[in-house]
Amino acid sequence: MFLPRLFVLLFCTATMLVAQGASTPLKIEVRRALPVEEEPQPRLPDTAALPRVLPVNRKSVYSRCETTLPLIAITFDDGPDPVLTPRLLDLLKQRGIHATFFLVGKNAAAFPDVVRRIVAEGHEVGNHSWSHPLFTQLGQESVESQLRRTHDAILKACGTAPLLYRPPYGALRVSQRARIEKTFGYPAILWDVDPQDWQHPRSAQKVYDAVHSQTRPGSIILCHDIHETTVAAMPATLDDLTARGYRFATVTQLIAFTTPPEMVGPPAPGSVPQPSIPLADPSPATARDDAVKGGDTKHEKPVHSP
Ligand code: NI
Repeated sequence: MFLPRLFVLLFCTATMLVAQGASTPLKIEVRRALPVEEEPQPRLPDTAALPRVLPVNRKSVYSRCETTLPLIAITFDDGPDPVLTPRLLDLLKQRGIHATFFLVGKNAAAFPDVVRRIVAEGHEVGNHSWSHPLFTQLGQESVESQLRRTHDAILKACGTAPLLYRPPYGALRVSQRARIEKTFGYPAILWDVDPQDWQHPRSAQKVYDAVHSQTRPGSIILCHDIHETTVAAMPATLDDLTARGYRFATVTQLIAFTTPPEMVGPPAPGSVPQPSIPLADPSPATARDDAVKGGDTKHEKPVHSP
C-alpha cells in the first residue's frame, strides 16, 4: 500500500512542478508581447536643415503647430543681451539645440556681434519691434516703422532677414496683423507655453516646472534671454524635454514640418489623395484673432522688460 501512495504523491508533485514551469514563461511572454518595443517610432524631419522660406499655405498666426510628432520650438525674446545671450548660446551649442530669437531692434543694433553668432550657430532670428511698444496703442505707420527698423538692423548685423515676427506682449489688432503680413510677409508668432519668466519673484524652478508641465507636441515655448533665472533654468529644462523624446526645431522649421502639402487642383487620376489643408484665417472674426488678443492679456502691463 505504501509504494502506490508514494508513486501518486511523486506524480502529483511532478505535475505541479511541470505546471509551474510552464506557467512562468507564459507570463514573460505576455509582458514581451506588450507593444512597447514593437511600436513604430515616428520619423522625424532633419532639424539640422534650416529652411529659409515658409510654406505658401501657412497660417497668418501661430500659437502652436498641430502635429503628433514630438517636435517643439523654444523661443527667446527681447534680446540680444551682451552677457546672457552668449551664455545661453553656449548651453544650446553643447546640446545641439536650435532655438528662435525674437530680437528687439535697438538691442540688435547695439550688439550686432551677438546677432551674428546667433545666426552663425544655426538659430533663427525673428522681429520683435524696435523698442517693444504696445502695438495696439500705435498707428499703422509707427508699427511699420518699428518693424522696418528692426528688419533692417537684423539684416545689417547678420545678413539674414527675419521671416517671422512676434508683437510685443502678443498684443495686436486684426487690421494691424493683416497690414504687417501684406507689407513684410511675416506670420505672427505667439506661444502656447508661458513660464512667465519675466514676472517677479523670478526663479529657475518656476521656469522648469511650467515648461515641463505645459509642453506638448507642436508647442511654441516663450522665454526671455534677458533674465538670469531663465538662462539658469535652461540646462535642466532642455535636458528634461530631450529625455522625454522632444526634438527642437526653429519656428520656421516647425511650421514647415507640420504644414500639410498644398493641394493644387484636383488629384490626377490614380494618384494618392492628399489631405485637404487648413487655409489661412478665412475671415477677420475667427477664434485665432481672439487668440491674438487673448494670448497677451497677462502681458499687457508694461512690467515685461523690453
Ligand atoms: Ni517681449
